[in-house]
Amino acid sequence: MADRPSTKRKKAGSKTSRTSSRLERRKSPLLAKNARNGAPAAHTSAAGKHFLSDKVGHFTESVIREMTRQAMLHAAVNLAQGFPDFPAPAEIKQAAQQAVAADVNQYAITWGAKSLRNAIARQMGVWQRITVDPEKEITVCCGSTEAMISTLLAICNTGDEVVIFEPFYENYGPDSVLSGAKPKFVKLRPPTTDGGEWTFDEKELRRAFDKHTKAIILNTPNNPTGKVFTRAELELIRDLCVEFDVLAITDEIYEHILYEGTTHVSMVSLEGMRERTVTINGMSKTYSVTGWRVGWAVAPEKITNAIRKVHDFLTVGAPAPLQEAGATALSLPPEYYAKLAEGYRVRRDHLMPALTAAGFKCFRPRGAYYVMTDISAFGFRDDVSFAKYLVQEIGVASVPGSSFYRDPRDGARQVRFAFCKKPETLDEAARRLRKLRATPAD
Ligand SMILES: Cc1ncc(COP(=O)(O)O)c(C=O)c1O
Repeated sequence: MADRPSTKRKKAGSKTSRTSSRLERRKSPLLAKNARNGAPAAHTSAAGKHFLSDKVGHFTESVIREMTRQAMLHAAVNLAQGFPDFPAPAEIKQAAQQAVAADVNQYAITWGAKSLRNAIARQMGVWQRITVDPEKEITVCCGSTEAMISTLLAICNTGDEVVIFEPFYENYGPDSVLSGAKPKFVKLRPPTTDGGEWTFDEKELRRAFDKHTKAIILNTPNNPTGKVFTRAELELIRDLCVEFDVLAITDEIYEHILYEGTTHVSMVSLEGMRERTVTINGMSKTYSVTGWRVGWAVAPEKITNAIRKVHDFLTVGAPAPLQEAGATALSLPPEYYAKLAEGYRVRRDHLMPALTAAGFKCFRPRGAYYVMTDISAFGFRDDVSFAKYLVQEIGVASVPGSSFYRDPRDGARQVRFAFCKKPETLDEAARRLRKLRATPAD
């Protein structure tokens, strides 16, 4: 596929390459795709000693976070990174302010403030009908990001294998590398019909499991696809976990963001999984506070003990006053969650028609707040050149699809948009996207 030949593109291209060279000097992850699975870069001192860990040569900085920096650089509408641009609920902001004023300003217990752990255990009972011991089975971390890496560091030995569905949330690749585990990817295939589901091949999944498999990382509702795994799919995964004696690490941070009556099934609630599941969740998405950095891992006691050790030496603890506010957040009434999901349904249905009108093929999400799209109609060489054009020339930031795949070629015709934004932000994005024109089919 060639870059689209048009005078506008050529003119735009000159600006693009000027900016690219600036990016190059900054070693942008956008331009360093080959570092993902490449050999470690040699950074040596004058005496010839390697100063850097070999591990960091195996991944780049986050492309998602880089796209936010690009959005700022080009004054673009940021539909790249998944953070809301609207206020967090007043009750929980007040709770945080009160906690600071009441001098909850010192280290909390390393594995989490009691009030928050109690609230997490209570809500796991309400939402998943799971009894959790807040004293022995919960570790509060600096976001679910830290909960995931602490879990992997706590359970993986070098050479252990971790099964990951792809496209995957960017962090899971580097998380596996840092913990010494070898990721094994299983494909989620895009829907072939309008409004269809992302699916996986049962046989391919089975082939990924063997005696070296330590864990499977599952994210439902899923970023970037919006897939919500069904009970039948989860039972299939459960059966493999039991057969091969494998742990399930489930990232459920979009648990409350569901559309069209879809239901979230938590892996830990399935028979046979209580003793082999680590459930990861957090405040970021459910309460629109991605900057607070409060998340948690719920796991059987023995695994929790290991996670707590790693967590203690990594970060000591999550922000104490914000944990208190977390206890308030988890006490919000059921209407809060219904409104949250409906608000995102409205935003999804605001952005998707604008994307479709501009020439994107949208894969309709069933949950979470992203829409994955196919960009074939624009005739660009790949997702990265398209995303650069979009942010620099059209003024809308997206995330190139390749950052969600092991092999960049698998995402070369996809980009992801986040719609966790105010209506006026989505309107402005729609206005700018009107400048974009798909190449007419031959
Ligand atoms: C699937 C998934 N997991 C984890 C995170 C990060 O969550 P936290 O802010 O709790 O670290 C994100 C953020 O976009 C995400 O999409």
